[in-house]
Amino acid sequence: MKVMIYKTAEEIAEAVGRIIIKRVADEPTSAIGFATGASPVPTYEYIVNEFNKGNISFKDMKTFNLDEYCDLPVEDINSYHYFMNENLFGKIDVNPENINFLDGNAEDYDKESQRYAEAIKNAGGIKVQILGIGTNGHIGFNEPADEFTDEAFKVKLTQSTRDSNAKYFGGEEKMPKYAMTMGIGSIMRAKEIVLIATGEAKAKAIAAAVNGEVTPQCPASVLQNHPNATLFIDEAAASLLK
Ligand code: PGA
Repeated sequence: MKVMIYKTAEEIAEAVGRIIIKRVADEPTSAIGFATGASPVPTYEYIVNEFNKGNISFKDMKTFNLDEYCDLPVEDINSYHYFMNENLFGKIDVNPENINFLDGNAEDYDKESQRYAEAIKNAGGIKVQILGIGTNGHIGFNEPADEFTDEAFKVKLTQSTRDSNAKYFGGEEKMPKYAMTMGIGSIMRAKEIVLIATGEAKAKAIAAAVNGEVTPQCPASVLQNHPNATLFIDEAAASLLK
């Protein structure tokens, strides 16, 4: 696992944005794994800017998002479908047919997990997976647990995650209790992983992920075992690193 420390979120956005753009330029049909949350937003702005300058086309790119809430219509302004459309997909030339999400409202979550795994496989596997990290060390919605998960599954969100995200819903009581997320195995099968974290609130999780033991109690620590995972973090997020 590599750690790159930057002064500003803009520098991180450029560094990660360039990785995605180069990947798609080299192989236009690449499958890219996208993440939601505040952390990747500047990266998406960078990518949109480069697209607007005519420097890259995403028309053949395939996309797979990490997670989606359960029991929330995809049209809801807090759905990750909505988020991705607002921040990236609606602003570039990605073909809507190439956009893949887990269905948080699936009737059969096991079947949905199998469907997603197949779709990723048929797309040639994820070439670059973008991640954020929760203050509890989660990646996707893989919350601290007793075991590492494999393929996508339905998860009960922890209090820490609910505390972090309730602000978007205008109160915790309005926030979904469950989500469907890619599992640790599905994330680890990506060829390259880029994790973005900024701010002091992430410092503890980053230190545990980098300096701690590899344990499902800090899901991001599993990235120590990935052959090509890089953390793109600012000085505040790096402040507790040994
Ligand atoms: P954030 O979320 O980017 O909004 O901080 C990251 C995460 O919880 O995985």
